[in-house]
Amino acid sequence: MSTRAPESELWDILRGGLTTRALALVADLRVADALEAGPRPVEDLAREVDADPDTLHRLLRALASDGVFVEEEPGVFRNNEASEVLHRGDGWDDFAHLFGGIWLRAVGELDAASREPAFKRLYGAEFWAWLAEHPDERAAFDRAMLQGWEGRVDRLGAVDWLEEEVVVDVGGGNGSLLVELLRRQPGLRGIVFDLPETNRDEAALGDRIEFVEGDFFERVPLGDVYVLATILHDWDDERAAAILRTIRAAARSDARLLVLDSVVPPGNEPHGAKWLDLLMLTLFGGRERDEAQWRVLLAAGGFEPVSIRDGLIEARCR
Ligand SMILES: C[S@@+](CC[C@H](N)C(=O)[O-])C[C@H]1O[C@@H](n2cnc3c(N)ncnc32)[C@H](O)[C@@H]1O
Repeated sequence: MSTRAPESELWDILRGGLTTRALALVADLRVADALEAGPRPVEDLAREVDADPDTLHRLLRALASDGVFVEEEPGVFRNNEASEVLHRGDGWDDFAHLFGGIWLRAVGELDAASREPAFKRLYGAEFWAWLAEHPDERAAFDRAMLQGWEGRVDRLGAVDWLEEEVVVDVGGGNGSLLVELLRRQPGLRGIVFDLPETNRDEAALGDRIEFVEGDFFERVPLGDVYVLATILHDWDDERAAAILRTIRAAARSDARLLVLDSVVPPGNEPHGAKWLDLLMLTLFGGRERDEAQWRVLLAAGGFEPVSIRDGLIEARCR
């Protein structure tokens, strides 16, 4: 049982928006990069990253109290394991930028009376259309999607693969997931299918992967296995079922479907998806789903589950 006062529990929740914003600011200033060589006085840091020294000190002191950076002696900061994640180059800095930037502003518009995406209300456009008009944020989004990709590849890697199968990664972003899967499974070939504005390096995809531009509400390429990695949680039930139906219409009857998304557990235990669900609601009117909701959605899309586990749902055509 927690020994903390209930007011302390509430305080840590109430000031959460400040934490999110503080992390975004230091990520954007690349403070973790500037501390790579060791501890530095905050005045020196502020000069290099072009920040106000007093404000930077207060941001870093607050973050250090939450375990990101360390104030080694008064006014002198160094990196720790958590802050070093921001300069590892695997998407966490961009994730912090988005979370504490355009996403946090949209969260401020979340309204319990509505399921309409707060993002659209604030910015006047759906998330993907808005990103298409803001190439820097689109590039940050594509880099941010790298974050956590090892877990997704490990789950895909554990699936039984057949020689020479063609894997279509629907909404596959810059293709990093498929590149790593095909590195581990040399018998496979792949197609990354995504919107034309997706930032990618097609030369880096290699000769076994092709990038195909398109809209998954209209068509998807023919393949043996369809992967939907963190796609369906972006959409409400109606549009998620429409994506599944597009795949079903393109697929042969023996095609397999692999959905990499959370299965929200019942009860009060912490689970990242319980909060990610609110971000999906804010940005897209999307949602995280529990097992019963996944069964209903798959059936509406023309599929039936073979197995439903948190992080990987395997299904076949009905
Ligand atoms: C949350 S990201 C997931 C990216 C990737 N699957 C991953 O796991 O990192 C959602 C992807 O869906 C793509 N997307 C959104 N609307 C689309 C559409 N109508 N047709 C095809 N792709 C779309 C986005 O461009 C984006 O790359």
